[in-house]
Amino acid sequence: MEKLIAKGVRRGDVLVAIGGGIIQDITCFLAATLLRGLEWHFIPTTLLAQADSCIGSKSSINAGDAKNILGTFTPAKTVLVAARFLDTLDEKDVRSGLGEMLKVHAIEGPDSFDRIAKDYPRLLTDRPLLLGYVRRSLEIKKRLIELDEFDRGPRQVLNYGHSFGHAIEAATDFAVPHGIAVTMGADMANYVAARLGRAPDSHFRRMHPVLRQNYRGFESQRVPPEDFFRAMGKDKKNTADRMGVILPGDDGRPAKVLVAPDEGFRAACKDYLEEVRSK
Ligand SMILES: NC(=O)c1ccc[n+]([C@@H]2O[C@H](COP(=O)([O-])OP(=O)(O)OC[C@H]3O[C@@H](n4cnc5c(N)ncnc54)[C@H](O)[C@@H]3O)[C@@H](O)[C@H]2O)c1
Ligand SMILES: [Zn+2]
Repeated sequence: MEKLIAKGVRRGDVLVAIGGGIIQDITCFLAATLLRGLEWHFIPTTLLAQADSCIGSKSSINAGDAKNILGTFTPAKTVLVAARFLDTLDEKDVRSGLGEMLKVHAIEGPDSFDRIAKDYPRLLTDRPLLLGYVRRSLEIKKRLIELDEFDRGPRQVLNYGHSFGHAIEAATDFAVPHGIAVTMGADMANYVAARLGRAPDSHFRRMHPVLRQNYRGFESQRVPPEDFFRAMGKDKKNTADRMGVILPGDDGRPAKVLVAPDEGFRAACKDYLEEVRSK
């Protein structure tokens, strides 16, 4: 902000963001707040930004150790997706994007998830196939955003994997890339839901192999439980005494539920992080 002010930014100036989700979040927040609003445009250069974050108009900024606690709804005026940017991405950043894509397909339903899961092994090498799934991911997200632009109801399912995922990111000091933490978070949500008797165990077992493959390399990353629970306690979806989390139900479709952070819940989380995750 200080740099733009020093350069004499004025009303009517336009910001152009070229980069991944971090550059997007920062530019979006600047566009929302500098001079009470500037127009901005976005050229996403990571798979995560191209397949997921580029639409939805949210800016999310951390404050202290609370993740995404500051923010606005400020859509980019235009978004230009150019697939060639993906050529130079690290594999972990490709898998970070795939994590959000797996998530959104799981939200659409078991058939949709099974389809992308079956093609998963080819997504890293078959570009046209990957781009088809990028488009499909944006279409699924678009439908939810149009239903609920300001995230008061149906859109909240897009946070599937995120309550747990954000806590994993915070507890590991961001050693796990966002979309990989979300992949682990979705797996953890399925496991915890089965332990709490909300979803069948078969749902967890059906999705686990492909989610596990997507977070490989991070399965032994230590997640100190106390740091994890402290971070979960800061989630925006919590009420005074309950955790707002997105968990799958009987039919495998995720929905927002309020759970008490009791011994059963904590034990399920600890077992996942200490044992189940790496199996
Ligand atoms: N606002 C939203 O709606 C929203 C949604 C999802 C995620 N996010 C946020 O986005 C962030 C994750 O986004 P991300 O995965 O794009 O991460 P990122 O922006 O940190 O980019 C990942 C890495 O890739 C590099 N990079 C970017 N483009 C490249 C390219 N074409 N070739 C080579 N390297 C390149 C970056 O320098 C960085 O090191 C998280 O902070 C997450 O919270 C925001
Ligand atoms: Zn995300």
